[in-house]
Amino acid sequence: MRVLDGKATAAAIRSELRAQCEAMQARGERVPKMAVVLVGDDEASALYVQHKLDACLSVGIEAECIHLSGETSESALIDIVERLNADTSIDGYLVQLPLPKHISEGRVLERISWRKDVDGLTAENIGRSVLGKTAIESATPRGIRELMARYGITTEGKHIVVVERDTEDGEASLLLPNVVDKPLASLMLLNSLERNATVSLCHAGSPNLKEMCRTADILIVAASRPGLIKGDMVKEGAVIIDVGMTRINGQMHGDVDRESVAEKCGYLSPVPGGVGPMTVAALLMNIVEATK
Ligand code: GUN
Repeated sequence: MRVLDGKATAAAIRSELRAQCEAMQARGERVPKMAVVLVGDDEASALYVQHKLDACLSVGIEAECIHLSGETSESALIDIVERLNADTSIDGYLVQLPLPKHISEGRVLERISWRKDVDGLTAENIGRSVLGKTAIESATPRGIRELMARYGITTEGKHIVVVERDTEDGEASLLLPNVVDKPLASLMLLNSLERNATVSLCHAGSPNLKEMCRTADILIVAASRPGLIKGDMVKEGAVIIDVGMTRINGQMHGDVDRESVAEKCGYLSPVPGGVGPMTVAALLMNIVEATK
């Protein structure tokens, strides 16, 4: 089994982006500038935001955090979104999710200009991606695509199985369904059109989950159910991409039971150190491209 090392791959991407930013500066061009809007004092969100800001600065992207109180009203937040849309010094921005319960994430996201939506999670960007139009690709699927490409993994003629979460009624945040599930499934479908792959979309609770997974040449699991995928569910030599992210006692857990899967699969992206760092690297790629 080979490890798909997201940490090392993301570091390589960051050094390429740093070179691009230095070249922009050397040509007398403005360097990319990004903003992150953080509402409230959720510790995990603040940590994620700091991580994104640090990643920007490490490649020469200017980054600014707009930190608002948890009491901020939806209309005040939308005013800030509109201001960022109009601000020509900002090339891209994101609104960190989840938002406090009194704010509708859907209504806020739909006001973000798609050209500045570096998360690639607005309806316009997801729709444009599906239609094959110029779009900013969602960062998680882009990170996965990039990770596979850099290890020479092709999708030509393969069976790609994507395992998503079971959708819960009245889901509070659009974070996982919109940031991961839908863009991931649609990107894999698009990829399959180009490369004659077959794409199957399952859910954690699909009754035939085991059978489906056992036929996967490439298995992408984003179910947020630690240990869901066991060794007897994977095909010999398969590529396994673990997108699971469940925090238990401060520790991040993926969806794959690494011990039993490792002896069967060909490649495995670990948690932590696989898709996570690649998502941040893809975000940086999106910012640099939004600037261009
Ligand atoms: N919160 C955790 N991950 C993400 C992400 O990728 N984008 C946004 N906007 N919020 C997040």
